[in-house]
Amino acid sequence: MRHVTMEKLFVHPIVQKYVGRSGMAHAIAVAEKAVDIAIKKNVNPDLAAKAGLLHDIGHYKWYQNGEWNFELYKENDIHAIKGAERAHKLLVRCEENLQDAKEVALAILLHTDSYLPEGELQLRPLQQIVAEADTADEEVGGAHHYRQIDYDIALKRIRDLDAKIESLMLANENDEQKN
Ligand SMILES: [Fe+2]
Repeated sequence: MRHVTMEKLFVHPIVQKYVGRSGMAHAIAVAEKAVDIAIKKNVNPDLAAKAGLLHDIGHYKWYQNGEWNFELYKENDIHAIKGAERAHKLLVRCEENLQDAKEVALAILLHTDSYLPEGELQLRPLQQIVAEADTADEEVGGAHHYRQIDYDIALKRIRDLDAKIESLMLANENDEQKN
């Protein structure tokens, strides 16, 4: 059973505020892509969707005089650290399973290596999926953060994603019962 739906997260004021700021259209596209990759890699689609939706929730001021400053942002960015913490707090408040909240937070923490020291990271499948889905939806100069989406269309896509995840999880449960 899922403790928290995508819709519950999407309508939450914290998500509307922070994910809205970093780009709701991008967040939803990443959630959808993450689910598709998760299906192929046999990873929990629910966690992939949640990490996808929330991966940029930690973005903060990247503007200079009202303008996006990509260089300044790259230099100073720690959005993955902030995002992991913010998403974790939100998920726990929404009464998410604590192990799941941790998995999602870790996937957010590691979806980019822009703030990490040089070196090879051994990413686990869920973490890799979010990084991959994010990269697939990126546009030059961070333009993906500015792509707009109507609230109603966004909500519809979130509901469709919930329905997809639920049917996938149900099919999985049935498979397990057969084995
Ligand atoms: Fe992103």
